[in-house]
Amino acid sequence: MRQIEVADRIAAARWLDGVASAVRGVTRKLIRPGRVKDALHGVWLGHPVHPALAQVAVGCFTGAAVLDLTGDQDGAVRLIRFGLLGSLPTAAAGLADNAEGLADQQRIGVVHGTVNVAALGSYLLSLRLRASGRRGGVATGLAAYALVAAGAALGGDLAFRWAMGPNHAAGLPQAGPRDWTDLGAVGDFTEGTPARVTAGQVPALVLVADGEIFVVYDRCGHLAGPLHQGNVVREDGQWCVACPWHGSTFRVSDGAIVRGPATVPQPVLDSRVENGRLQARVRPAP
Ligand code: FES
Repeated sequence: MRQIEVADRIAAARWLDGVASAVRGVTRKLIRPGRVKDALHGVWLGHPVHPALAQVAVGCFTGAAVLDLTGDQDGAVRLIRFGLLGSLPTAAAGLADNAEGLADQQRIGVVHGTVNVAALGSYLLSLRLRASGRRGGVATGLAAYALVAAGAALGGDLAFRWAMGPNHAAGLPQAGPRDWTDLGAVGDFTEGTPARVTAGQVPALVLVADGEIFVVYDRCGHLAGPLHQGNVVREDGQWCVACPWHGSTFRVSDGAIVRGPATVPQPVLDSRVENGRLQARVRPAP
């Protein structure tokens, strides 16, 4: 069976939902909405932080395997220790992301995490065996590295094949209307109630609030949730929309992220009223 078929089978394994739900529940209790959670998602970085952190741990473990194979056990031990240290923030970021994933993504995420925990446990055992002078320390370390590789492969599937992490609104500005495009009569939009329209080829949300009109791409950049079904909220005096799926909150005037898990600002459109008709076009990049 090819590796991607393994990931597809895991994604379809509904029996994992109970485990995923338990992990999600614990994660949400430990990592509450707020600055720390947003930092773990990577809002400050502009993309998910978990894959970047994983490079540190995986890089250390790769180096340790090379050193073990070339007979430098002391160097391998140092890298294993550093890799274990780097695994802590990596795991925290991964748990935060996975708790806000779709069901099939969470199933893969749970297996990805379990394989990685097994790898970390094996590394701890490897260190213990080496410290006590018993045999098997190197072999256990290499077995742990095989688990790291398997976990990384699943992580790659999760990120690229199952699209956990990419910006799901990335292509929308290119597909949206360059010229002013009619969205309907202004009177058809109700103050304070988001409405879904089509702007050229793309779905958009129209919000009338305090006499102003805002037009935002409707597909949430996090995982493509329908923003027009979300709540309209006021944050620091600014009108925002909160995604109904995982609560990413965007300022409707410029798409800025007020709260993750989304890590990229939501694209917005310029709007104007002509003869009682609302028109919109893609806002040129600054
Ligand atoms: S789809 Fe996840 S927050 Fe919008």
